[in-house]
Amino acid sequence: MLAHVEARTTQLADREGRVPVERYTSQAQLERERAVLRQTPVAIAHVSELPRPGDFLSSDVAGVPVLVARGADGDVRAFANICRHRGTRLVTEACGHRKSFVCRYHAWTYGLDGALLHVPQADAFPSVRCEDTCLVALPSCVRHGFVWVTATPGLPCDPQLGPFGEALDAFGLAAHVVHRKAACVRQANWKLVIARAGTCARLRPCSTTDRCLFVHTMLIAGAAEQAHWDKTFDLIEGRVFQQEDLAIAESIQSTLGTPVDRAFRIGRLEQPICWFHDALDQATALP
Ligand code: FES
Repeated sequence: MLAHVEARTTQLADREGRVPVERYTSQAQLERERAVLRQTPVAIAHVSELPRPGDFLSSDVAGVPVLVARGADGDVRAFANICRHRGTRLVTEACGHRKSFVCRYHAWTYGLDGALLHVPQADAFPSVRCEDTCLVALPSCVRHGFVWVTATPGLPCDPQLGPFGEALDAFGLAAHVVHRKAACVRQANWKLVIARAGTCARLRPCSTTDRCLFVHTMLIAGAAEQAHWDKTFDLIEGRVFQQEDLAIAESIQSTLGTPVDRAFRIGRLEQPICWFHDALDQATALP
């Protein structure tokens, strides 16, 4: 890469690539992708979003509702955000601060560590023992300044990022704080968005091929220059993401159902798109 910088050249692939449009429209392909995401550690939050015991946030990972909370002992834990009584989504707010979680349906109450603390009219549930009716724990860890969750109970949560992890550590992201965050659902397949804006935002595929959740989070190193970072965030969120990247992705999405061109052409300068699809093909082919 340094040679390219010095020579003022760029890396060109040997040949153009082709990506079938079906990759973006196939529900079967989407389900394979969601299955991979449920088995893969996903960075669900930055540690600065849960600074105090009692802080929590909720999100979805490939359709699995996830609750992350910092316990009284200071540890961050992840759970399926599902009440053990009759399956209500336990927490509906995106984030907040609580001493416990009370289900809004029949008021079963859980601790920050997922323990079932209270069952109203407990004599109606003779089989329920608090000690084995906790919230279902999801594998999680804190690494490189982020909270990672694997949305399938019992699987490992060990993000192997290789050199990318070293780069994250070199930036000192663990000591950064979230300055601002914006999220929206857009009418585009998540892979169309990742080709434009995926390097600096989080993406989650929704349950249909033509929608995705787009989350833009700005981390900053300290409290200084807030006005500067506000201006920068507004510029990136408003003009770069909303007006350009996401609008382009939605424009492409709107043409996918037409019987015109059945494959995208990937130029020799656009090889990362092919690398991304190759990696995805490998992952979705796993048993
Ligand atoms: S579903 Fe949660 S208490 Fe009944």
